[in-house]
Amino acid sequence: MTTRRQSWGSKIGIILAVAGSAVGLGNFLRFPVQAAQNGGGAFMIPYFIALMIVGIPLMWIEWTAGRYGGGFGHGTAPGIFHTMTQKNRFIKYFGVIGIFGPLVIFIYYTYIESWLLGFTILSLTSKYSQAIAAGEIGKFFSDYLSVNSVLSPAYIFFIITFIINFIIIYLGVKSGIEKVAKFAMPLLLILGIILVIRVLTLGTPDPAKPAWSITNGLGFLWNPDFAALKNPRVWLAAAGQVFFTLSVGIGVILTYASYLKEEDDVVLSGLTASATNEFAEIILGGSLIIPAAFAFFGPDEIVKIATSGTFSLGFITMPVILSKVPMATIFAFVWFLLLFLAGVTSSISLLQTPIAFLEDEFNMPRKKSVTITGIVSFVLTQPAIFFLANGVVDELDFWGGTFALVLFGTIEAVLFSWVFGIDKAWDEVHKGAQMEIPGFYKFIIKYITPTFLIAILIGWFIKDGWPVIIMQNVPEANKTYILATRLGLLALFFILAVLVKIAWRKRKSRT
Ligand code: ALA
Repeated sequence: MTTRRQSWGSKIGIILAVAGSAVGLGNFLRFPVQAAQNGGGAFMIPYFIALMIVGIPLMWIEWTAGRYGGGFGHGTAPGIFHTMTQKNRFIKYFGVIGIFGPLVIFIYYTYIESWLLGFTILSLTSKYSQAIAAGEIGKFFSDYLSVNSVLSPAYIFFIITFIINFIIIYLGVKSGIEKVAKFAMPLLLILGIILVIRVLTLGTPDPAKPAWSITNGLGFLWNPDFAALKNPRVWLAAAGQVFFTLSVGIGVILTYASYLKEEDDVVLSGLTASATNEFAEIILGGSLIIPAAFAFFGPDEIVKIATSGTFSLGFITMPVILSKVPMATIFAFVWFLLLFLAGVTSSISLLQTPIAFLEDEFNMPRKKSVTITGIVSFVLTQPAIFFLANGVVDELDFWGGTFALVLFGTIEAVLFSWVFGIDKAWDEVHKGAQMEIPGFYKFIIKYITPTFLIAILIGWFIKDGWPVIIMQNVPEANKTYILATRLGLLALFFILAVLVKIAWRKRKSRT
């Protein structure tokens, strides 16, 4: 007996759900930092190129492959790859990366998301405003992060965030994910627009320093430094950002698209979800932290601020800036709530993939698959929480949130065009399509997308691969933690591969 698969309630629902997965912390925190560090306006050249030749094609590939696999009852990469390759015996194991990635990202992403819930609430307390007034928000943040017991506020907010995620996911695709996306996405965009208007109307906050203005802040971020284009690192950073922000190469869009019906459009829907994400990234994300920090801290400090790291920008710099405007408490609250909503709509997408794997491949009822995923991910999250200071989260982010994405994206692109076959793929993409993709994209998807991705992987290996593997830049004190994390990741991958094997063996014995 096969359990009936779930489905989306409406077209706008799935678009908002995919946009919700895409719009996340990457748009508001990661993007401005990447742009500022990699050539400012010039960064947008490799960014747009990567968006056009990798981001959007992968979006279409994942929507199409997901819908195709869903038609055969598969919502995750092992099954989807299996059906796309006429049941090749080995290809399904490549699909394991598409479950491994979401699970690994979920482990640390939810924890960071819980800081945002924590700060949304704490921003309304007098302790927070006292810390801001005393210039001690940095200490306030590091105290918050030093979790030494399960009663620490950060741990309690983590538990609450974890439960919120699982309640949404337990309610299902239509009544959980879709409902939340329909409510959270418009709210998030409204909050973002309010903040952007606030920042753009700051003018010159200190009249004694006319050069410290929002206009010059926008100039700092967007004036192109074309010399940066000669550096391969800038190209890698741009491609990495496009993957991360669109949520492609992870495996989650495959799962969301697997709940589509055969005649549902994927071309325009994929494009709409991408466009929504780019609006949130470039227009909203690009107009907030960096221009505001420039206007308040000036051209010398901004360089230091832009390199201070994503978290210090979000939890220290931005709160300080917002404390200087009228109605400071409200704006701080809006800032953290915006980020929390962006986080939650992304983390539920990460969760749906392993759950769909258990449901589809083991015929497991939702309650059981949610419970198992809950227990496993709860256990796996603990090292990220307690060993954050030892670099565990960075390590998880690198393998699960960066490397796996590019590798998985490359595999998808090759499979789609070369194994499934571009002509068949092209027909498949256009089933039920409300617009036609320009013909030259057939060439791009077949040749350029895989070549570009393979070049990125080779480029990474030559430039950074070996030093990363031998932990060259890892501080001595953290080496044991990093090694343990890597062994843990290998074990997780191996277990998932064994599960795939068991699932197929069971399936065979049923048929
Ligand atoms: N796409 C999600 C983000 O940007 C993961 O945060």
